[in-house]
Amino acid sequence: MFFTMITYFPNSKVFRLDTRTTSYAFFADPNGFLLHLHYGARVSDGDALVALARREQRPSFQPQPAGVPWPFSRDTAPQEMSGVNTGDYRVPGLSIRWDDGSLAADLRYVSHEIRPGALDMGDLPGAFAGDDKDVETLDILARDAARGASFHLLYTVFPATDVIVRSVRIENTTDSPFTIERVASAQLDLRRDGLHLLQLPGAWARERHAERLPLGGGIHTMRSVRGATGHSMNNAFALLSSDATESQGDAWGFVLCYSGNFRADVDTDPFGSTRAVTGIAPDTFSWKLAPGESFQAPEVFLAYSAEGVGGMSRRFHDFMRGHLIDQKWAKVPRPALVNCWEAAYFNFNAEKILAIARDAASLGAEMIVVDDGWFGRRDNDKVSMGDWFENSAKVGDMADLVRGVHDLGIKFGLWFEPEMIGEDSEIFRAHPDWVMCIPGRDRSIGRYQYLLDFTRPEIVDAVVDTVAGLASRAGIDYLKYDMNRNHTEAFAAALPPERQGEAAHRFILGVYRFHRLLLERCPGLLVEGCSGGGGRFDAGMLRYTPQIWCSDDSDAVERTRIQGGTSIFYPCSTMGAHVYACPNHQVGRITPFETRATVALAGAFGYELDTTKLSDEDRALVPKQIADFHRYHPLTLAGDHYRLSNAWSDNAVDAWMFVAKDRSSGLLSVVRRRAVPNGNDVVLRLRGLDPAARYEVGELGVWSGDTLMGAGIPVPVPCHDAASMRLPIRRV
Ligand code: DGJ
Repeated sequence: MFFTMITYFPNSKVFRLDTRTTSYAFFADPNGFLLHLHYGARVSDGDALVALARREQRPSFQPQPAGVPWPFSRDTAPQEMSGVNTGDYRVPGLSIRWDDGSLAADLRYVSHEIRPGALDMGDLPGAFAGDDKDVETLDILARDAARGASFHLLYTVFPATDVIVRSVRIENTTDSPFTIERVASAQLDLRRDGLHLLQLPGAWARERHAERLPLGGGIHTMRSVRGATGHSMNNAFALLSSDATESQGDAWGFVLCYSGNFRADVDTDPFGSTRAVTGIAPDTFSWKLAPGESFQAPEVFLAYSAEGVGGMSRRFHDFMRGHLIDQKWAKVPRPALVNCWEAAYFNFNAEKILAIARDAASLGAEMIVVDDGWFGRRDNDKVSMGDWFENSAKVGDMADLVRGVHDLGIKFGLWFEPEMIGEDSEIFRAHPDWVMCIPGRDRSIGRYQYLLDFTRPEIVDAVVDTVAGLASRAGIDYLKYDMNRNHTEAFAAALPPERQGEAAHRFILGVYRFHRLLLERCPGLLVEGCSGGGGRFDAGMLRYTPQIWCSDDSDAVERTRIQGGTSIFYPCSTMGAHVYACPNHQVGRITPFETRATVALAGAFGYELDTTKLSDEDRALVPKQIADFHRYHPLTLAGDHYRLSNAWSDNAVDAWMFVAKDRSSGLLSVVRRRAVPNGNDVVLRLRGLDPAARYEVGELGVWSGDTLMGAGIPVPVPCHDAASMRLPIRRV
């Protein structure tokens, strides 16, 4: 143990949570209010921090709680978790509908416990301590002042990676049922204004384009009610000081560990404070809690960095690689794969797959993935969704096909879309009642398919049974788990009317159940997440799928933007990234084969093409690219990532680095996204190196670390669209 992580100062009732470089502090005031004091740079005071509590005087429009002397007002107090309808007019963290119909929440501190280790999140994905003995959890018990219901505010401190994980558990310790209308996973009241917001909006094929905007007064909302995180807004965001850059300034990051409907609000009040609240979207949620029952909200990961956005990103990368992603895979090299979707779409048979596999194996590929189209009567996307048995006319017996591929010395992957059911399918004919819909209402259709009612565990179990049965019978090594439509008409057929607000959350619990059961049945399976590309790229899925197909758009130029945005919160090793055929199938752009590889090498590498159709010139490059993958992949799996250009700008030149933790080696990648006629030299100031060491940078000679980082290095990237360079860095 290198220092105490959670310290309680009994005189002042201050709680201070310390990580390697940060401190988080709050206290229970004499009335039991849990008031936030500090989240930022590491501090060493305890009792003295109470002086930071807000004391300004306010007029009567900020009412006081009964018996609490003026000028305290909930409306201006920085609180750890606020309640609705009791005098705080900002976005609340908690909203409870009691059995008399009233809506209110008034949390008062009762007691606390400090325990070693992380939480067991039960049905939800969550962070784990792993081998880290320093991880500790603070469990604050607060009660509603009028009704006595129990609210546990939970804080798990991961000191080495500078992350604090928060969540809330509500227990009905009263005699009557009540309904949770809103439960945030975390609320952070910073006594700062003039902040900037960094968010990840997007759309299909252009997911997670980072956007930075100054926050004025009022509420800025990021949310999804699509049944999944969705393409249009990710559930991770950051608050920045206005002067923050990639390498300096304050950055507070929030990553929700959840894959369903979410809502994050940033509320800048008129008194110099900014509140961030994030959790399950209250828009599509309510949860009835009977006496004795409890409800656990998902976790949210918090990281503060004084080293700007990049410092925050590296903290999240280390944290997720060490405490979220299955350790069986987190640091294990992934196979260089060839995915057949853009190689053949629905038009293939076993011979064609084997021909591609044979050729790919001869070039050094380590796995072939058979995508959509292998099952039922699936020759197009109108039929057979949900029929997870081989189309034997097309692929024969799956076990034979897998054996044929294994005989080539490579692995075999297979595509599924387990949450779906098509009307023209065997599964629909057998179980029309398995569709999620509202009785008496039209069912909206997306890509000719409906959702299965995953709120019903027995349906989840039946689908797992079929999928896991085929996966083990055929001996597949890898499963691509897709999801290609948004939710509509969410309804849980097995639940009574007063519980219908639970449908969306129960659905996503069904998805998590599927993943847990699948991995129990097939423990060796590597599962890649996917949702029409990157429509469900979130920390919740990363708990079960160590990599996620980052976008259906592989175009190298577009991908620099998508991968740059994604890397703000998620480790690069988790981004499925492939070299594709040109012209690119999404945007028609023609890019050099090597640039496509430079970009794909920043993630879990593979090819999205038929290698037998490559030109001789491109074919000759494949073995070298795969060798580069083996050479650099350890850096993406375990090294530090530095964006050399702002992730939130549409840069003409994009550059990034991976550096080994011991700073002995690295990779510098540069892509000229757009040529600028008569433009400037590209001079890059590198980061993360040892200033006292000397480094060889590709063919650019030997330089001292301080020169590379202080003065920069001219990089002769050719002056045309989509030109690129990747330069190995080696300490000499
Ligand atoms: C969407 C995925 O993102 C693609 O890679 C591919 O698997 C298709 N679905 C297949 O339908």
